[in-house]
Formats: sequence, C-alpha cells, structure tokens
Amino acid sequence: MIRPLALLLTLTVGTAALAQSMPQLTRDNGAPIGENRNSRTAGENGGVLLEDTTLIEKLARFDRERVPERVVHARGTGAAGSFTATADLGKFTRASLFKAGKTTPVFVRFSTVIHPNGSPENLRDPRGFAVKFYTDQGNWDLVGNNLPIFFIRDAIQFPDMIHSLKPSPITNKQDPNRFFDFFSATPEAVNMLAHVYSNLGTPASYRTMDGNGVHAFKLVDADGNVTFAKFRWISKQGVKNLNGAQANAAHFNYLTDDLYGAIAAKDFPKWDLMVQTLTPEQVAALPYNGFDDTKEWLGVPFTKVGTLTLDKVPDNFFESTEQSAFAPSNMVPGIEASPDRMLQGRLFSYADTQRYRVGANALSLPINAPRVKVVNNNQDGALASSERSANVNYFPSVVAPKATPDRYRASTATLSGVVDARPISKTDVFTQAGVFIRGLSAADKADLITNLSGDLGQVRDDRTRTIIVSYFYQADADLGTKLAGTVRVAMPEVARAVREYAAANPAQVASN
Ligand code: HEM
Repeated sequence: MIRPLALLLTLTVGTAALAQSMPQLTRDNGAPIGENRNSRTAGENGGVLLEDTTLIEKLARFDRERVPERVVHARGTGAAGSFTATADLGKFTRASLFKAGKTTPVFVRFSTVIHPNGSPENLRDPRGFAVKFYTDQGNWDLVGNNLPIFFIRDAIQFPDMIHSLKPSPITNKQDPNRFFDFFSATPEAVNMLAHVYSNLGTPASYRTMDGNGVHAFKLVDADGNVTFAKFRWISKQGVKNLNGAQANAAHFNYLTDDLYGAIAAKDFPKWDLMVQTLTPEQVAALPYNGFDDTKEWLGVPFTKVGTLTLDKVPDNFFESTEQSAFAPSNMVPGIEASPDRMLQGRLFSYADTQRYRVGANALSLPINAPRVKVVNNNQDGALASSERSANVNYFPSVVAPKATPDRYRASTATLSGVVDARPISKTDVFTQAGVFIRGLSAADKADLITNLSGDLGQVRDDRTRTIIVSYFYQADADLGTKLAGTVRVAMPEVARAVREYAAANPAQVASN
C-alpha cells in the first residue's frame, strides 16, 4: 500500500534522496521509528495493541507534558542578555559582578502576578521583573516587580492576600468583593493599590517599565562592614503605560509579541541598574521602618552601577522561561538579606515551591545551573544527572577535603530584643501614597480614579467601599473625595471611618 505522504514525496523529490536529508524519527530510546501515523491494530476493525510501544510512549509522554504552573506569576515571558557594570561597588560589597567593565550573562523573566498561565497579558496587575545573574561566584537572583513597593509587609499574610486576589473557590472568578474585603483590613496596602490602579498596572510594553528589587538588601564589603541597599532598573526606553481603554483594546499576547519583536529587529531593550545605599544608622533614623516593603526610600539618591541588555529570546519557551526558577535566596557573597519580614519569608518560599514545581534537581537544568562548578553533597532525587563518581559524599573528609574559607562567611549582626509576633512600629501608612498620588499628572490621576472605580464600584458591601475610600482620603483628600463620588460613598461616612481609624491607631501619622 502506498501511503499519501509517501506518495507525495515520491512524486516530488524521490524517497531515497529525502531519506538521506531528513533526520530519522526515533523513540526516546533512540530506536528508529518506521510508522508514526497509524497505531498497530488486530486487523482493520480489531483493537489497538498494547505492544505498540511507539504509541504507548507517545501518549505517556504527552500525558506528562505539563508541570504545575507557578502559584503566582504564572504568565510570563523571558529573554537572555548581559549586565555590564559601569561603576565599582567594591566600597560597599565584595560581590564580584560589580567591578566596572565586567560583563555577566543574565536571564530575565517578566510576568503578571495573579492571572494563570495562558491568560491575556493586558489584565491589570503588578508586573514581575526577575533577573538571574550567572556570576562567577554563583547565581544572584534579583526577583523584583515594576512597582517600587508591595501590598503587605509580613510574609505570613501573603497566602491570604493571594487567595483573596485569585478566583473565588466557589465561582472560580476573580472578585473585587473578596480582595477589597482583605484590603479593607490592610491599610498599609493603600500605597501599592494607588500604584497598581494607576496606569503603571497596565504597561505599554515590558520594555517600557522600570524594575525594583523592592526590599532593602545588605551589602557586605571585604571587611564584613554592612551597608543597606535598594536596587532599581530604569528603562532606557522610557516608562510608557496604557490607560484602561487602551489596555482593554490590547491583544492577548501584546507584551510577549512586543519583546520578541524588538529583539528580532535587533532593537535590544536596555535598563540601567541604580542603587540607593544607607548605613544601618541612617536606616534607623528614617521616619518609617526602612525595612518595610510598603515604603520607598524617598529622597535617597540613586547611583548608576551598570546596564542590562536583552538580546536573545529562548529557542525553547518551556525549557527556559517555564522551567526557570528565580529565588531571592539565590545570593552571592557580598549580597545578603536585610531583616525585611517579607524578604525573609521569600527566602524560604521560592526554593521550596520550585522543588515541588520543577523538582528536587531544578537548579541542575541548564537555565538554572550556575556557570561555575557546584561542589557539595546534596544528591539524588528525581532526574538527578550530576555524573558524580566520587566515593566521598560527606563533609568533613580527610581523604577529600573541601574548602570553606572565612572570606565567604556571612556578615555578623548583634541583636537584642524580645522574641514575639507583633507588627512593626513606625508604620506611617498614608504619607507615601499621598506623595505618589500628588505626583501624578491630572490625566493620570483621572485614570487612577476611573481604573479604581471600575473594581471598587463592584463591591456590594457599603462598609468595605467606605473603608477603602477612607484610606485613599487619608492619603490624599482630593482623590478620596472624588473617589467617594464615583463609588457611591457618602462623605460623612468617610469622615466617620477616618475618625474610627485614628482612634484605633493613635500612633499613625496623618499625611494631610
Ligand atoms: C512573602 C511574600 C512573597 C511570597 C511568599 C512569594 C512567593 C512567590 C512564589 C511561591 C512564586 C512562584 C515561584 C516559582 O514557582 O518559581 C513567586 C514568584 C514571583 N514573585 Fe513572589 N512572593 C512574595 C512577594 C513578592 C514580592 C514582594 C515581589 C517583588 C518584589 C515578588 C516577585 C515575584 C516575581 C517577579 C515572581 C516570578 C519569578 C519568575 O518570573 O519566575 N514576590 N512568588
């Protein structure tokens, strides 16, 4: 019998010539396959045979194609490139990548936060901006967002906040009644809510947004001295956003298409890495808690330390972007965690989820593996491929000693205090939200009200709407008053909520 595909090939070029030029299809064991379109059956109308190992293997592999999507930041896109340091940060940190002129390869993944893998890219959200630096001292992951602050300040609240923002467990739809219920009891979120509901929540392109490390980090010099630092990526393309109507009109894949298109056209996007530094004494003197990630270090000058260029999109989306595993715990000597309670929780959460999502050997995959040799006794687990042949898989060993020199010891810190679970002091919830709102242009402020009213206006509970308006009112009275008008809240009720808040939070500094 001559099959249609074979007939076509015979007629055009001749099977012998083609057989030589085409790669041979094989099974996973490398054995050549002679038939890939028809299953083996017991005669024309008989059952399909279990002995058809090509069929069984193909279906079994297909059945296992998906790994769990990221529990947050599931929808993303990635690109590779390099970071070139333009200033020497040796005064503050022994991290080797910050030597002027030094180039380090990077992989970057941009993402939305709440919406699932395969969701449209035009939905309002903070945007992830995660950078993996493959340094010569191991990988450093700066896992940040486009916005400079965050909703909450303690990791213990993160699962609850995400549950409120993810689809309802009953209707499977995202529901403003649920997340504004959470935020009505979380006043410190008002700064982040003001940012997310501004047009920053719908960037025109991943190339036209800034990035932020958000938390304070600890820089440690060669003598063990500590300076605290915050990192920011400034887009050399400029910051450009969409308003609500433009975002609604943007197509499903607009951010990925834009990034891939620019790189294909050799219009390589670039960002400058800026750093703010403060001594421990300067952090302590701030009028707010300097390790509170709902705050920026406003007024602290930025210094440029290098430039990031993205110039290659992955050849294989799944193996690069989907299996990439960024973790704040991936740090290098000279960069350490500050006491920021969110960052401290993140140090655990990312590597933990990745051992579940990608597997125990996630960091052995080419996209995640450091460019330096890994030497330790962590071993085995699913898909281990270390090719280790040494007999010594323990430490210490006299026959095969391994070095742990003092110059790589982490910094020391002197502590005093009471072990307890209590909120931070110096909360100052509203000041910076007010500074942000008053810094918006008139058009951007109008868009913030329109964007926010769209979701807040759907909330059925009068008290929830009133409380949220009262938080915005305490940040900026003008915006709060206008918002009240668009979401059916009476101003006397707002005034009452403000009084109740002040009575319950006597230490809170009102901003206006
Ligand atoms: C305690 C608070 C937080 C927890 C527990 C948390 C947890 C997580 C988890 C479990 C993932 C999925 C990781 C994976 O599957 O590979 C993730 C992704 C991510 N998170 Fe967080 N997160 C927190 C706060 C933040 C903050 C404050 C930022 C921004 C500064 C942030 C930025 C990101 C980014 C950019 C990703 C995606 C990384 C990628 O592209 O693969 N997260 N987060």
